[in-house]
Amino acid sequence: MKILLTGGTGYIGSHCALALLQAGHSVTLLDNLSNSDAAVVSRIRQLYQPQSAEAAELSFIQGDIRDEVLLERLLSTQRYDAVMHFAGLKAVGESWLQPADYYQHNFNGTLLLASLMQKHQLPCLLFSSSATVYAASATALDEQSPCAPASPYGRSKYFVEAMLKDLQQANPAFSVILLRYFNPAGAHHSALLGEAPCGTPNNLLPFVAEVASGQRDEIQVFGDDYPTADGTGVRDYIHVEDVAQGHVLALQQHQAEPGVHLYNLGRGQGYSVLQVIQAFEQSCGRVLPYRITTRRPGDLPSTVACADKAQQLLGFTARRDLQQMTDDAWRWQQQLQQRPVVQPQLSPITDKATTGQDGVKHEPC
Ligand SMILES: NC(=O)c1ccc[n+]([C@@H]2O[C@H](COP(=O)([O-])OP(=O)(O)OC[C@H]3O[C@@H](n4cnc5c(N)ncnc54)[C@H](O)[C@@H]3O)[C@@H](O)[C@H]2O)c1
Repeated sequence: MKILLTGGTGYIGSHCALALLQAGHSVTLLDNLSNSDAAVVSRIRQLYQPQSAEAAELSFIQGDIRDEVLLERLLSTQRYDAVMHFAGLKAVGESWLQPADYYQHNFNGTLLLASLMQKHQLPCLLFSSSATVYAASATALDEQSPCAPASPYGRSKYFVEAMLKDLQQANPAFSVILLRYFNPAGAHHSALLGEAPCGTPNNLLPFVAEVASGQRDEIQVFGDDYPTADGTGVRDYIHVEDVAQGHVLALQQHQAEPGVHLYNLGRGQGYSVLQVIQAFEQSCGRVLPYRITTRRPGDLPSTVACADKAQQLLGFTARRDLQQMTDDAWRWQQQLQQRPVVQPQLSPITDKATTGQDGVKHEPC
């Protein structure tokens, strides 16, 4: 297949790009580089070692999903078999401060993309949704569990899901795959791909990694009075390479199957903040300082997936455990600090790229 990945140089998109290439699918990455670096494209290429002359191709376009002219040109000239849509903003806390940005990028961006896909009869859209759409629950969340997103970010995901269901109903040939990720964590085992947020990390593992590497003084633990075993929040962490594998399986299963296909991507096992810190201490070999502070508004005590549906229908199992996530995250963090700083806007990839018939820059693999 030939797949367009919006947000393709980001954390999850880059791992999915590699997994798709390794599964034999050609990949175009579209990203505005607002939270990633074009050097990611070279690292994906470095990791992808084609076994035959008929290898899958990798190309990169720098652009924004809200750019209608660009999208129109791209989708009207390229026959993609599917779009995996990762581009968007993802910080719960920031979404309270800048809700309009979240609805602009996440909702309006997806509406434009999906509308143009339908206009040009592209068959399949896979959307990165999130466990933040669910209501609080003391038990594992399955795909039928009630939704009640507690932040503008979660609501942007929930509204997009509803909008895509409506578009699918009006266009029954369309396949919509909704993947609700729980807490993607870790990095590629090569330490060449991983999470490199611009500014303060929003997710726990990158923050812990920065404390472990001495960039930050201490970990803030938001609340130790939740009704959990040690009082700190519990989340279902899933290795990012397992997340990528889930995408390949979901796409291969449903790309040509019209309808709405909804799955959780989690492991079905929760870990508290303190357990994550302990696992990271094992990985980096030192005690990590932390401080208990007050709860953050909107944080739930515990969010754990029921992962049965993906296992039964896709044959998906998240194989990597928490220790592997923290080991890989620590290796990635160490690499990050050794790597020279790359200018994100002026990468050799863009310089070397050729301009295709569609008028956009392409970089063949
Ligand atoms: N990482 C998580 O914990 C998590 C959990 C649940 C859902 N998700 C969702 O998965 C998707 C990918 O997340 P991620 O962790 O890889 O984030 P990320 O920030 O690493 O990747 C997103 C990419 O999209 C790009 N981007 C943002 N706005 C864009 C726009 N308007 N046009 C083009 N590119 C744009 C960024 O530059 C970045 O490379 C997001 O939609 C996020 O909401 C992530």
